[in-house]
Amino acid sequence: MTNPKKIVFATNNLHKLEEIRDIIGGKFEILSLKEIGCNEDIPETADTLEGNAEIKARYIKEHYGYDCFADDTGLEVETLGGEPGVKSARYAGENHDSQANMELLLKNMHGKENRNARFRTVIALIMGDEITLMDGIVEGVITCERAGDSGFGYDPIFRPLESELTFAQMSSEDKNKISHRGRATAKLIDKLENI
Ligand code: IMP
Repeated sequence: MTNPKKIVFATNNLHKLEEIRDIIGGKFEILSLKEIGCNEDIPETADTLEGNAEIKARYIKEHYGYDCFADDTGLEVETLGGEPGVKSARYAGENHDSQANMELLLKNMHGKENRNARFRTVIALIMGDEITLMDGIVEGVITCERAGDSGFGYDPIFRPLESELTFAQMSSEDKNKISHRGRATAKLIDKLENI
């Protein structure tokens, strides 16, 4: 039997790592940033999700030599011209405070009739010298108030079109079936399985 091929997921988020490791099985050995000795903060300086995912993946390839994939996610609100988008984590400030981010978004949406929004995840995969970008989208609306206490980030105020519940009112299994990240990850896995 050949050894599984090593590939880095440019994250230290254990939840995301476990999720992908469970699905990919033995074909690839998925390494975290910590496991390759990368402790630096990779600068996310692009003004698009695609740009940031690509920066992270290229950084690992160039500095550590591994094949790699990286993701970036944003909540894009139609009536706000796609904001908070690439700034979703730090919408209300640099300390990445989910409660403050939701509060600011609800304030900016006050009185708006058009509440259409979507979550979008972009994954950049670098294998050898080939880069592939994949995305996953879930369309929905921004609710007028918070509901539910599961999940993270903007989950309590995002209701996907295919449900009566916000993401924070769903089990993680139900959320993953329709979520932006679930859909982008499915494309990644399809690509890796066919390599
Ligand atoms: P990241 O690129 O996965 O770190 O996501 C950036 C930001 O988008 C997070 O800090 C959250 O505020 C938000 N976000 C990403 N995914 C989700 C989700 O599934 N639910 C709610 N918020 C999310």
